[in-house]
Amino acid sequence: MEPMPTIDAAIGLLICPVCSAGLVREDRRLYCPQGHSFDIARQGYVNLLNGPAPANADTAAMVAARERFLDAGFYRPILDALIPTCAGTERIAEAGAGPGYYLSGVVEACAPRQHLALDISVAAARHAAKRGLASAVANSWAGLPVRTGSLDRLLCIFAPRNPEDFARVLAPGGELIVVTPTADHLAELREQLGLLDVPADKTSQLDEQLGVVGLMPAERVDVTFALEADIPAITDLVAMGPNAFHRPPVPDRRLPVQVCVTLSRYRQATAGPETTELIR
Ligand SMILES: C[S@@+](CC[C@H](N)C(=O)[O-])C[C@H]1O[C@@H](n2cnc3c(N)ncnc32)[C@H](O)[C@@H]1O
Ligand SMILES: [Zn+2]
Repeated sequence: MEPMPTIDAAIGLLICPVCSAGLVREDRRLYCPQGHSFDIARQGYVNLLNGPAPANADTAAMVAARERFLDAGFYRPILDALIPTCAGTERIAEAGAGPGYYLSGVVEACAPRQHLALDISVAAARHAAKRGLASAVANSWAGLPVRTGSLDRLLCIFAPRNPEDFARVLAPGGELIVVTPTADHLAELREQLGLLDVPADKTSQLDEQLGVVGLMPAERVDVTFALEADIPAITDLVAMGPNAFHRPPVPDRRLPVQVCVTLSRYRQATAGPETTELIR
């Protein structure tokens, strides 16, 4: 059988999206004991969607713009803030991983034993696989095709959340790391280009949603920085976001860009008597 070390390393994390049984690989497919079978694409990702893809999957053009923008290092401070939260982690996944910039940075820095990039967009899964990540197409809202209690860290960066299922896949003491935009994120850019307003995630709402499923706030860090981005970079920044679904405006000059995000860590409360403390 052709060796596929990346997928093989991650296979213990995966479950069948139809019946939740474990999966095994045979050549270019994964299958479960019930006979549900999922092809591994030539580019190395596996499609574990159980049903049609919803309309909000990022398109190939959005994913390519995101990868160019991120690979140019413009959001590197966000990756730098993420890496210490994943130190010593053995099993990690990202839900809504896009092209896999953050997960591959974390994998490179922290060398977890198992990792998994998940996204509803086929284009995103393809890019993540190309970066050398174990990559699957999956819908967070339908439930992740991930074994219960199998992850030490789950990342969710500017992507949709499924609190109940995120809590399910975390091991006791495991942590969900969420990166969300604040109200000031890209504010001048949005104003000057007339971009769509992305509603900021209120951290109090996030705490409430996640607290209900037993994920308790452990740390919160604001990451704020200004960008020196040229016109092609700003064009990518616009094209990688929700404006791409409409007719994105093309900037004709350099514009000030202020990045304002919050990184929040939530710990699976079933870890035992150890208390978690909210640090502001
Ligand atoms: C704003 S992008 C963020 C991507 C990546 N985390 C990053 O920051 O570079 C949001 C991603 O979530 C994915 N997505 C949207 N709905 C999803 C869902 N229901 N399940 C999984 N991924 C989803 C999109 O395809 C897109 O790649
Ligand atoms: Zn099955």
